[in-house]
Amino acid sequence: MKAVRFHETGGPEVLRYEDADVPTPGAGQVRLRVAGSAFNPADGGIRGGFLPIPVTLPHVPGYDVSGTVDALGPEVDGLAVGDDVVGFIPMAADGSAAQFVVAPADALVPAPTSIPLADAAGLPSVGLTASQALFEAAGLRSGQRLLVNGAGGPVGGYAVQLAKRAGAHVIATASPRSRSLVVDAGADEVVDHTTTSLLDAVTEPVDVLLNLAPITPDDFAALAARVRDGGVVVSTTPRVPTPSDEARGVRAVTIYVHPDAAVLADLVALVDSGELHVAIADRVPLSDLPTVHQRAEAGQVHGKVVAIPPAV
Ligand SMILES: NC(=O)c1ccc[n+]([C@@H]2O[C@H](COP(=O)([O-])OP(=O)(O)OC[C@H]3O[C@@H](n4cnc5c(N)ncnc54)[C@H](OP(=O)(O)O)[C@@H]3O)[C@@H](O)[C@H]2O)c1
Repeated sequence: MKAVRFHETGGPEVLRYEDADVPTPGAGQVRLRVAGSAFNPADGGIRGGFLPIPVTLPHVPGYDVSGTVDALGPEVDGLAVGDDVVGFIPMAADGSAAQFVVAPADALVPAPTSIPLADAAGLPSVGLTASQALFEAAGLRSGQRLLVNGAGGPVGGYAVQLAKRAGAHVIATASPRSRSLVVDAGADEVVDHTTTSLLDAVTEPVDVLLNLAPITPDDFAALAARVRDGGVVVSTTPRVPTPSDEARGVRAVTIYVHPDAAVLADLVALVDSGELHVAIADRVPLSDLPTVHQRAEAGQVHGKVVAIPPAV
């Protein structure tokens, strides 16, 4: 099969589009014919060796997948050959940047039927991150005020939509390139972080601050002062410490997305009921994935990119 792999960690140049063996599913696993493999910023961190994810070389990147079940391993219930599925699959195992991938059956759920199967790869880990940040970490409730810093990216797009659906008042940042996405996602207030100080724009306290952007520790601490007493600061960016304020009862939670097939199935249902939009910025042939890594390194990837392998 065709796959993108790296045989050593390093810059985007270590990625090779090459032939690899078709994987065989083990117990509890299925093999998928990949329809879409979504790129995530963490793919660059794993390829570069910066993230503590213990991959075996050569490694096939890609932990978000959509595809069709092609073979079943032993001890698999509930899935059949021909099923269209999506999943957030283990980051340390060989991934979806290939014509075939093996995945734990329990990480997979039926794919949305209302959008193209390849596009559905843009949902799993990003949608789960947004959901886990808002509801597991922050316990967001109807009527609360939420500030999303870095709402212009894929996680932010889902976070704004899910928070609005939950009845929150959402204040979100967006540069001009992201403004329409964030407005369409339902933000009540949009602050252009390239022209306006968020501290000046947000004068009333918020219940929850969700940070998705690469800000400095000082800027993050200053923003946390806008969280009301007893509120929550949540972050997906572990490189910057998440500030708390014990004196005021403000909690800090740094989240690491974890697989959750039940919540993923709920997100799929929202997609099919028209309540959650899967935004795909670009679809590229799998052979172009190394270029996507290069563009990401140069800060030129905006929105979710899905790599599509050649038909089998
Ligand atoms: N911990 C976890 O489990 C987990 C899981 C998923 C993602 N993540 C991380 O969470 C972050 C968000 O993910 P993503 O896929 O949505 O990333 P992304 O594509 O990098 O989007 C982040 C967005 O933040 C905005 N931004 C950049 N600099 C900013 C600044 N100084 N102030 C405010 N906004 C700024 C940008 O939009 P505009 O500038 O156009 O507004 C950008 O699109 C990434 O760092 C990702 O690695 C972590």
